[in-house]
Amino acid sequence: MQITIFGTGYVGLVTGACLADVGHEVLCMDVDADKIARLEAGEIPIYEPGLEALVSHNVAEERLRFTTDPAAAVAFGTLQFIAVGTPPDEDGSADLQYVLAVARTIGEHMDGYRVIVDKSTVPVGTAGRVREAVRGALATRGSELDFDVCSNPEFLKEGAAIEDFTHGARIIVGTDSPRVEALMRECYAPYNRHHEKLMFMDVKSAELTKYAANAMLATKISFMNEIANLAERLGADVEEVRRGIGSDPRIGYHFIYPGCGYGGSCFPKDVQALARTAGEVAYRAELLEAVEAVNHRQKATLFAKLSQAFDGDLSGKTVALWGLAFKPNTDDMREAPSRVLMEALWAAGARVQAYDPEAMAECRRLYGERDDLALVEGREAAVTGADALVICTEWKAFRSVDFAWLRRTLTTPVVVDGRNLYDPQAARQAGLLYYAVGRGASLVD
Ligand code: UDX
Repeated sequence: MQITIFGTGYVGLVTGACLADVGHEVLCMDVDADKIARLEAGEIPIYEPGLEALVSHNVAEERLRFTTDPAAAVAFGTLQFIAVGTPPDEDGSADLQYVLAVARTIGEHMDGYRVIVDKSTVPVGTAGRVREAVRGALATRGSELDFDVCSNPEFLKEGAAIEDFTHGARIIVGTDSPRVEALMRECYAPYNRHHEKLMFMDVKSAELTKYAANAMLATKISFMNEIANLAERLGADVEEVRRGIGSDPRIGYHFIYPGCGYGGSCFPKDVQALARTAGEVAYRAELLEAVEAVNHRQKATLFAKLSQAFDGDLSGKTVALWGLAFKPNTDDMREAPSRVLMEALWAAGARVQAYDPEAMAECRRLYGERDDLALVEGREAAVTGADALVICTEWKAFRSVDFAWLRRTLTTPVVVDGRNLYDPQAARQAGLLYYAVGRGASLVD
């Protein structure tokens, strides 16, 4: 099958490479000529395990191609995936300008039937707006060519995107057209061999499914963070509570890990956008607002704990950070708890000495050179000469540490663990002033 993908960001590139890998012919289009040139040279702009090899293999096999030419892109595929960004507006709603620009491009250039597939996470009702944009562009040409718009939301986790694409729990397609259903079945047949993963539904339900899934997961996390904060104040251990409630299959063990708040490109943006969508239909989504508020508060707890440990005065202190990315196995720092912490530390006159296995270039890009930020190679270098250590990301390489060494290396043995990596008792026995999330010994009143 010939398939066009608009947008070579995270979602577009993973979708294009995976679809090419199962034998489809894929043309990826992007307006960024620089990016396309780098992709053609085999250079991947993002960090995602396995993606570089998958792209270069399929480029070599000539099943995956890149272009900046919109006419060529529209001419190529019967399926035209829209996988461009939907950044949040100032008010938290998704900005659809890039999605609608692609829709107009398709309308301007199409010469026969096309299926426009909304892959980007877009608010409920967007398929209708895409349809209008295509129709408008066709009308300016005096054309009434036939086309369909369907919704096919992605459920990719950064760091496991290829696995999620190829072995995901479900493939959601929102359409009311049998013709689209047949084409989407053909597109996804290679992933639908052993059991039926394709779920067809109406367009709006498909659009809402994506938001509902992310909002539910974000709710689980904020709920656990709330329980953790309570546990701290009550002297209970949230890790025991987590095991206790996770054993009930109705609750389950997934996504109930307390921490320093959820980040990334999806949960914060999607929870906000869904709350906005609710507002537009005159419904106040109070639970979603609370999920968001709890997450903001949670990100601030790292600084609050540190500040208490130093009696409210962090000026002149050097704080080591292990982990900058919003989660392990990615270099993404969007909405990362580390950013809230660093910015608060700088405002308080402290210095940051940070190490992350993948996200240091991204950190440099975000904050540039500054006197109060040192990006150092390795976790040892980060703690050397530091007054305190904060763990922001649970990279595998941080899971085991010699507490005695840490005690000797840190000037003041304060460790704030935002990911509950260590046994609090063992850490405290080794002489560390160890503060985790929801594990007793609260610093915050
Ligand atoms: C998420 C969804 O999982 C994916 O299905 C969707 O398509 C996009 O959003 P992603 O943002 O890549 O994927 O990361 P994920 O692994 O889901 O983690 C999101 C955030 O939640 C991270 O900040 C993580 O640290 C946090 N988290 C996750 C917790 O704090 N506790 C948990 O138990 C699980």
